[in-house]
Amino acid sequence: MKFFIDTANLAQIKEANDLGILDGVTTNPSLMAKEGIKGEAAVMQHYIDICNIVDGDVSAEVISTDFAGMVAEGEKLAALHENIVVKIPMIKDGVKAIKYFTSKGIRTNCTLVFGAGQAILAAKAGATYISPFVGRLDDISYDGMDLIAQISQIFAVQGYQTQILAASIRNPVHIIKSAEMGAHVITSPLASILALLNHPLTDKGLAQFLADHAKSNA
Ligand code: G3P
Repeated sequence: MKFFIDTANLAQIKEANDLGILDGVTTNPSLMAKEGIKGEAAVMQHYIDICNIVDGDVSAEVISTDFAGMVAEGEKLAALHENIVVKIPMIKDGVKAIKYFTSKGIRTNCTLVFGAGQAILAAKAGATYISPFVGRLDDISYDGMDLIAQISQIFAVQGYQTQILAASIRNPVHIIKSAEMGAHVITSPLASILALLNHPLTDKGLAQFLADHAKSNA
């Protein structure tokens, strides 16, 4: 399973990349706004900056909601760097845009996926990735992990090549469950990735090893 970081924060992207386990980055307009990145030129430069840190796929989301607009924006984004993946919302014109980009050899990430039917449509259109939003389903009392399991089964049975990118990850259990359910990728905030490191018995065991070493070398 690949690890992407879900942020536009360059310091956090660098920190995750330095850990040596980072395979890519996902962003969205809310994450760009959170970092105060405004205006087309600044947004484009920020994507280039991210691509210069991480050697892996970087999802850049279109703002347009009509076919022509998505195509124009997506082509501009894809031309920025070979690692850019055009992120397209799961709407009717979005499916058409994914199909268009697939025919042009431009990779796509279909975002805002909340149901198996949407995942099937995006896979049929040739999306490179689909992003089911696990945490936002949990927020409304659905089990987001059930959707990952269902899509995983459908894609295996149908032989779809589209990769399942579990998004809206909120905690380390979401990451572990995504691996168990067969997600190809998770995209997560840095905090949930780092939380995978923690176990009290590891801390206790290490403290004991160091104390014993110190005693016998005193
Ligand atoms: O990038 C899309 C997704 O990961 C957003 O997550 O926490 O805003 O639901 P969240």
